[in-house]
Amino acid sequence: MFIIALANQKGGVGKTTTAVTLASGFIQHEKKTLLIDLDPQGHIAFSFGFDKNPGLYRWLVLDEPLDKIVQTVRPGLDILSSDKRTENVKRHITLMDFRETILLERLKESDYDIILLDMAPSLDVLHINGLVACDWVLIPTRPDAMAVDGVKEILLTMAEITQRGHQFAGYSILPTFFDRTTRETITQFQEIVKTFGERVLPPIPQDTRVREAAAYGKTLWEYSPNSPAMSGYQEGKTQVGGYKQIVDRLLEVIDG
Ligand SMILES: Nc1ncnc2c1ncn2[C@@H]1O[C@H](COP(=O)(O)OP(=O)(O)OP(=O)(O)O)[C@@H](O)[C@H]1O
Ligand SMILES: [Mg+2]
Repeated sequence: MFIIALANQKGGVGKTTTAVTLASGFIQHEKKTLLIDLDPQGHIAFSFGFDKNPGLYRWLVLDEPLDKIVQTVRPGLDILSSDKRTENVKRHITLMDFRETILLERLKESDYDIILLDMAPSLDVLHINGLVACDWVLIPTRPDAMAVDGVKEILLTMAEITQRGHQFAGYSILPTFFDRTTRETITQFQEIVKTFGERVLPPIPQDTRVREAAAYGKTLWEYSPNSPAMSGYQEGKTQVGGYKQIVDRLLEVIDG
């Protein structure tokens, strides 16, 4: 079992989009995948054309077994949904002993190949639980002036968690909303690469079809599999970036 947390305290950087697109990519490689929504907004269910529900609440507060409450949204892909009752989950956890390891402990009962955790843009107790539970932290970031700062904040939180004895297998940074015709994007992208080097994955192009797919409750694999966000862009003879490459890169980590 390999657990990936999608983290960035900044909102609207592509965490949910990335979680949905990667999860629906992994199942094409025979990986039994679970996607857990840790955000009260509950956007994960919508992204697959389902209504949100209090799955996370039923699991962590009412103690119902995971396999009874997950929803199979595509063959091989289950989700655990979230809604406003996730606020109650946070209050519940805060009052418990060992409150930072609740998710880690509960996930031991599951038998997925890959679990993705879509986190809310906040640094709350569920966010800490997600980081403590995961093997790999994937940090989507827009190439804007605050990007480097935002990534550094997460790395600081991860360092604190490491000090308390948790071992991460690693982390990577995923530049999103990449517009190679805009000077600002290029400058900020270069800044991210200069700061974080090989941790930086190939970028995901800005692409209006991403928003459309989400609105129709379809994944990008279904709605527009050859769009720029999926296939990247052409540089000479090579394709640079896009979610297809990211799936392959992460599978190398997971299987390697
Ligand atoms: N590469 C892209 N090109 C264009 N639009 C995108 C791209 N990635 C995501 N979007 C759109 O941007 C919006 C924000 O993306 P998303 O919800 O994935 O971000 P998030 O980090 O999960 O946000 P939040 O912090 O609120 O949870 C969504 O409407 C999504 O459809
Ligand atoms: Mg989100």
